[in-house]
Amino acid sequence: MNKIFNWGIIGPGAIAHKFVEALKFLPQASLQGVVSTNLESAQRFARQYNIPIATNQLNELLDSDVDAVYIATPHHAHCQLTVDCLTNGKAVLCEKPLAVNHKQVSEIIEAAKTHNCFLMEALWTRFLPHIEKLIEQVNTDTFGKIAFIDSNFAFKTEYPPGHRYNNPALAGGSLLDIGIYPIFLCYLLLGKPTQIKADALLNEQGVDRTLQALLKFKDDARANIFSSFHFNGGAKAHIYSCTGCAIHISDKFNTPSNMILENAKGEQKNIEIPFDGNGFNYQIDEVHRCLVQKKLQSNMWSWQNSLDLVDIMDQVRANISLKYPFE
Ligand SMILES: NC(=O)c1ccc[n+]([C@@H]2O[C@H](COP(=O)([O-])OP(=O)(O)OC[C@H]3O[C@@H](n4cnc5c(N)ncnc54)[C@H](OP(=O)(O)O)[C@@H]3O)[C@@H](O)[C@H]2O)c1
Repeated sequence: MNKIFNWGIIGPGAIAHKFVEALKFLPQASLQGVVSTNLESAQRFARQYNIPIATNQLNELLDSDVDAVYIATPHHAHCQLTVDCLTNGKAVLCEKPLAVNHKQVSEIIEAAKTHNCFLMEALWTRFLPHIEKLIEQVNTDTFGKIAFIDSNFAFKTEYPPGHRYNNPALAGGSLLDIGIYPIFLCYLLLGKPTQIKADALLNEQGVDRTLQALLKFKDDARANIFSSFHFNGGAKAHIYSCTGCAIHISDKFNTPSNMILENAKGEQKNIEIPFDGNGFNYQIDEVHRCLVQKKLQSNMWSWQNSLDLVDIMDQVRANISLKYPFE
């Protein structure tokens, strides 16, 4: 790939730094602009990484020659910003969740179709080498059919009520932020659930601090997932098969990771899975590959995948009667 891809960032917050670190591993990427609602924070970010455009005016970025925009704002802003970028002919890599609900994700997909623009949800875990290895392992005859998945993502936060984790107006709550990872894993391995039963502890602002869900899939496979901002529960995934085999990813299953393969006799083997960069580079690489091939969506994480994922989260939220004020 000889082409240089000019990137812009909207939302220079916590995760945007990780994105910029990842770009350093991709010589064909060049960072050209950053947008924030607060001009000073855009300028601070731009100084730190030597970015030519720093603005609080979205149009400045949209009128520039950036090829692709990474959207890393709180969830409530994903839909409008993504549609604005697509409408102006910019490819978009938007942080998870692509948007807050089915209606918003559908609107975004329509905009990508109408404007013939590339669009992908930045579900970075999907592109990591250990996830490819996991898919390979669960597809072996020895492993057989998946019987049960037990997965969680939980850490303790001390943020004030207005922080995006806690704030309903910003589509806060553990489900959309971190519960999305265990749900993604179940969906990746088992497809859409046929039944969902969820329960949650809500915070004083009315979003889920802790969420638990039981998912039932075809062929009687089950999953138990939970997410929480209440306590440090790590990010674990245990996948059990009908043949008595198991795969354990106990060390932050959503990040570059190792895994333990367990055979039907209970014998365990640890496998290390090498990765490049900080892991974020894999999803950016996929965007570059798709742009070179003039594809509008990735085969690895398609528009339908994003729609299915948000459908599952919509159902979980319906189960716990959680609606955001703007819905
Ligand atoms: N992939 C991962 O591992 C991972 C990890 C953490 C978070 N995330 C996702 O990344 C996103 C951001 O999370 P974060 O933790 O980085 O949030 P954050 O630290 O609160 O940063 C959000 C940034 O967006 C800016 N912003 C807010 N509204 C905006 C708007 N309308 N236009 C332009 N900028 C806007 C904010 O600054 P101003 O208010 O000054 O504009 C802030 O710089 C979320 O979707 C989250 O789920 C992903």
